[in-house]
Amino acid sequence: MIKDFKGKVAIVTGAGSGIGRSLALAFAHEEMKIVIVDVNQESLMKVHREIEKIGVEVMSKVMDVSNREQMSQLANETYERFGKANVLCNNAGIGTGGLLSEVHLENWDWIIGVNLYGVIHGISFFLKRMIESGEECHIVNTASIAGLLSSGENALYSVTKFGVVALSEALHQQQQFQQTRVGVSVLCPGFIRTDIVENSQKLAGTKEGLYEVPEEIAKIWEPAMENFVRRIKEGMDPDIVARMVINSIKEDRLYIITNPEFIQFLDVRKRSINHDALSLRATMQSQGVGSGKKRPQIYTHPNLGFSVTYPGDWVVQNPTPVMSFDFMAISETGYPNIIVRVVDASPGGLQESIKDASRFISNTLGMETRVISEIQASLKDGTPAIEGEIEVQLPDKANQMIILILTTQKEEKIIRITLSSLRFTYDKAVKKKLRDIAYTLSLK
Ligand SMILES: NC(=O)c1ccc[n+]([C@@H]2O[C@H](COP(=O)([O-])OP(=O)(O)OC[C@H]3O[C@@H](n4cnc5c(N)ncnc54)[C@H](O)[C@@H]3O)[C@@H](O)[C@H]2O)c1
Repeated sequence: MIKDFKGKVAIVTGAGSGIGRSLALAFAHEEMKIVIVDVNQESLMKVHREIEKIGVEVMSKVMDVSNREQMSQLANETYERFGKANVLCNNAGIGTGGLLSEVHLENWDWIIGVNLYGVIHGISFFLKRMIESGEECHIVNTASIAGLLSSGENALYSVTKFGVVALSEALHQQQQFQQTRVGVSVLCPGFIRTDIVENSQKLAGTKEGLYEVPEEIAKIWEPAMENFVRRIKEGMDPDIVARMVINSIKEDRLYIITNPEFIQFLDVRKRSINHDALSLRATMQSQGVGSGKKRPQIYTHPNLGFSVTYPGDWVVQNPTPVMSFDFMAISETGYPNIIVRVVDASPGGLQESIKDASRFISNTLGMETRVISEIQASLKDGTPAIEGEIEVQLPDKANQMIILILTTQKEEKIIRITLSSLRFTYDKAVKKKLRDIAYTLSLK
């Protein structure tokens, strides 16, 4: 987590205009050394001079983020000149669009090249060095609110921005698992007052093979386009966005949502997905196919001496390198799930087993955990056990997972069964169901 920016190095792509320019100037005011990148030489040089006036070191490069060699060269030159890189803002972006039945593959190549490959290149050429440097670092990828909500009006743009959101979420999770010092944020602006429309149109003029909207179609879309341009012109000042980014780096926030009023539309999307998932299940069940009809299954470990009974429609998972366990079954949606793990008893034995589990979960997931309850219990055959509940703070900060744990001991081994649920679904009925499953644990 970066708290103090002074003397550190920031790289900003697409810094010649709009959000990128504001970011570069904001970092300069924080007394960072700045590397700025843009395809537009004239605007880049203007920003270069503005940064010089603030009085910090600045290096600028006229280059194209979609070009692999140039991005590799950018990383090399940054490390040669400054010896480190702390904040990387993969921000350069353009808009191009049209009906999916009409646009050319050249439109796709251009927008994926800049908006998605630009970010991939930044990560590919900087991340490893950032991790290995051991320095406090942060990567900010600029997506858009269109990276969380797609619409027919911005089909191509949304595809690239959904990609940037997915990439950022995965990147964030990997840094947490590996416990590196690289923080990750994904910037999802709403309407911001920049020249993105004019700049993208100018750049489109330099590209070959792009789809040109016929006049009669342009006429149909004119009101929608005018509305879009007006909303950009009336949008948020990019300097405010830059301030939000600085605050979010300091507070290690994954999602930087400039306009929370759009979030209600995510609920609409979630409801549609839920509706389709459940109605498909109902259709399948009415045809006698699929889940919900199977009897509970019993799993007995071949040599660890425990067995558990799990719902017949849950799926048994094989161990993965990140999550080592002795048995795992997950429900259709992934939550809740059952994990059984057999571990060596710590000096504290069964009494310490819930705290041990909490520490283990915190270390492997890299997330904060807290024991919220702990009671003496016993398995059905009378073997002493301890039941506990652990709260896990998920990376998105807004959600918490509750893990119900039942531990028991066999000689020098602790057997731990965990069942997890999201806090907002962990009501009385769910808790009872999870406890019923946990108490099917038995020892041979
Ligand atoms: N303005 C908005 O309302 C808004 C909303 C959501 C997301 N965004 C995103 O914010 C980012 C910045 O956009 P902006 O609004 O400041 O636009 P902008 O046009 O003002 O700035 C983008 C800059 O990127 C540069 N650029 C374009 N292609 C490039 C390439 N291949 N290599 C290097 N530089 C390149 C442009 O020359 C321009 O200077 C983009 O990723 C955009 O998609 C903007």
